[in-house]
Amino acid sequence: MDIYKKTFKEINKFFQINLRKENCIEDIFDILEEITECKSAYIFYMYPDGIKAEYTRNSELQDNNFKSIEEIKFDSTKFLCADLKLEGTSFAKLLITREKEFNPDEKTIFATVSEIISNLIKNIELNNIISLQVKAQQESIIELNKAYKTIEKQNKKILKADKVKSNFLANISHELRTPLNSIIGFSDLLAANCTGTLNSKQAEYVNDIKVSGLNLLGMINEILDMAKIESGTVKLNRSDFDIKIAITEVINIINPLALKKNIEIIRSVNAFAINADYQKLQQILFNLLSNAIKFTPENGKIYIETSQNHSNIMIKIKDTGIGIPSKYHKRIFNKFEQCPNTAKAASTGLGLAITKELVKLHRGKITLKSALNEGAEFIVEIPC
Ligand SMILES: Nc1ncnc2c1ncn2[C@@H]1O[C@H](COP(=O)(O)OP(=O)(O)OP(=O)(O)O)[C@@H](O)[C@H]1O
Ligand SMILES: [Mg+2]
Repeated sequence: MDIYKKTFKEINKFFQINLRKENCIEDIFDILEEITECKSAYIFYMYPDGIKAEYTRNSELQDNNFKSIEEIKFDSTKFLCADLKLEGTSFAKLLITREKEFNPDEKTIFATVSEIISNLIKNIELNNIISLQVKAQQESIIELNKAYKTIEKQNKKILKADKVKSNFLANISHELRTPLNSIIGFSDLLAANCTGTLNSKQAEYVNDIKVSGLNLLGMINEILDMAKIESGTVKLNRSDFDIKIAITEVINIINPLALKKNIEIIRSVNAFAINADYQKLQQILFNLLSNAIKFTPENGKIYIETSQNHSNIMIKIKDTGIGIPSKYHKRIFNKFEQCPNTAKAASTGLGLAITKELVKLHRGKITLKSALNEGAEFIVEIPC
């Protein structure tokens, strides 16, 4: 058959090769062999330090790496070589060998076939790169999933450890409270001279024991409250009541502390009905009022005010005390956070953290307006 006719028939097969197939180079060599009747075929890739036979058919070579084409010694007597190009730049060489001489027609045909193979190789390499990229992406997604799973596991462990810690704290605080209550109770009995009259030094020391015991009890109670809140066991015990009554009761309890510092508590409190946890609302008020007393110098004033809109009851507690610099406005609601200038030995720094959680349990919010030396105003809003 006429060589051109044969080539024309075969060349079509190049375009039917599935370039995504793993060994599609073999298909290329099959067609090349059919057209050129070659004995062996090579595709050499060019690298900065030489060339390498990346793909071969019936190789006659002992090695695949050479400095240049000229260095190669083929067993066959004749060979043809053409550059495979990408945008005009050679990136590889196609080489075929056989015993019989190549005539000029065959050389022309080989040149054309090389052009086609050049494009096919280019597409094969592109496919390889894309599939490598897809693989890398898939692997990184798998890695990410693995990382998420690990984080998820660690989070669960942390939550569990946190719960264990809260339970431990709740138990230990309970164990501490019982003996403390007897320390306070017995120092009360001694102070009341129930077991004989104390001299003035003894009375002073007994009073010291009692005050320190009460301080410690207050701190332990706070730790216990926080631990209970954090372990998620605190539930609201709601009832309908008059906010004015709840406030009056708290002021009556706390007023002796204010009187000691000659601080006046001025109220503008209306009788609003509210549905909330009576005891927890009193704890909120107690924490805010005790802070106001603690951080207001002698002869100062504390204002307590209530108001109501269609959905909320607002309680404002404002003092004329030392105030809070704005950079601490958020932080003081965290556990154990205290402003550096106010930290007191007998304080744990839990009052506001507990208050915030109790307000949150009521689906309310607490906000603060204050500046250094300009007093502080805490506003509690609770849905009514
Ligand atoms: N009314 C206030 N005026 C000025 N500073 C305040 C006021 N209320 C709170 N603070 C600041 O916020 C900090 C945190 O208050 P929080 O009630 O949480 O802790 P505490 O009163 O120091 O200790 P605890 O309440 O546990 O006995 C205080 O230490 C203080 O620095
Ligand atoms: Mg406090």
